[in-house]
Amino acid sequence: MTRPATLPDAVVGALRCPLCAAPFARDGRSLRCPSRHSFDLAKQGYVNLLHAGVPAGTADTAEMVAARVAFLDGGHYAGLRDRLAEVTASETGGEGLVVDAGAGTGYYLAGVLERLPGAAGLALDVSAVALRRAAKAHPRLGAAVWNLWEPWPVADGSAAVVLNVFAPRNGPEFRRVLRPGGSLLVVSPERGHLAELASVAPVLEVDARKEERLDAALSDHFELVSRETLRERVVWKPDDIRHAVRMGPTGHHPDRLTALTDVTEPAEVTIAFSLSRYRRTT
Ligand SMILES: C[S@@+](CC[C@H](N)C(=O)[O-])C[C@H]1O[C@@H](n2cnc3c(N)ncnc32)[C@H](O)[C@@H]1O
Ligand SMILES: [Zn+2]
Repeated sequence: MTRPATLPDAVVGALRCPLCAAPFARDGRSLRCPSRHSFDLAKQGYVNLLHAGVPAGTADTAEMVAARVAFLDGGHYAGLRDRLAEVTASETGGEGLVVDAGAGTGYYLAGVLERLPGAAGLALDVSAVALRRAAKAHPRLGAAVWNLWEPWPVADGSAAVVLNVFAPRNGPEFRRVLRPGGSLLVVSPERGHLAELASVAPVLEVDARKEERLDAALSDHFELVSRETLRERVVWKPDDIRHAVRMGPTGHHPDRLTALTDVTEPAEVTIAFSLSRYRRTT
């Protein structure tokens, strides 16, 4: 018999009740705080801590998640995952809690945990569909449904590293959950990313001063340690192109993606990301 999926102890220890901020204890297949607020684990092993609605169009949909799984399974962003794992390992010495804010299907966090034998991972995302995948992506990964714009249900100073890969950024909460000296790793698209696909899908405009603004937004509590660009020209098959577009922000608007059916030939595409490493200073 296979054991039902659950949350690693280190993750339960770091989670806090979203209603009263107290620590949780396990109670069968639930997490319960001393005030008896209780949250059930889903059968896939993640916990939904949300107690308020989120605006429509916030969470990745089942179609977007399916496209993301198919695309990432193809290994197209494996270089980025490996680099993130390498950098995280050098920041932590292989131990501690890694929180992935906007973890999606857990692809990057699972890759990071594979390199960090003594670490546990917490995947936060507002998409329960994505977290069903994340919860099964690695045995040391636990997943919780949450809206990153609200104060996170995570203890102060509990994380050695926070990852943020193509997802919303909440600077005050990055700082609060990181231990002093902890690292924040932010991945975002660079100018030119997927630019060749402009004729088949609305392409994300990347603001030239985006990194300046990010540094300024974090400057009270973080210092920029390093920034690197990963840029490559690759050839993708039509299905790769369709998945890459459908898993992105325009996946929320399938009506704008009708031109994708015209893609019948492989095409050369630019992929370009920046990876910024910050350290919590105060
Ligand atoms: C572009 S995807 C990136 C997912 C993952 N980091 C990856 O790269 O595979 C953005 C993710 O952020 C999540 N997200 C968007 N708004 C959010 C919010 N307010 N709170 C939590 N997650 C959110 C979406 O559900 C989605 O999984
Ligand atoms: Zn409570």
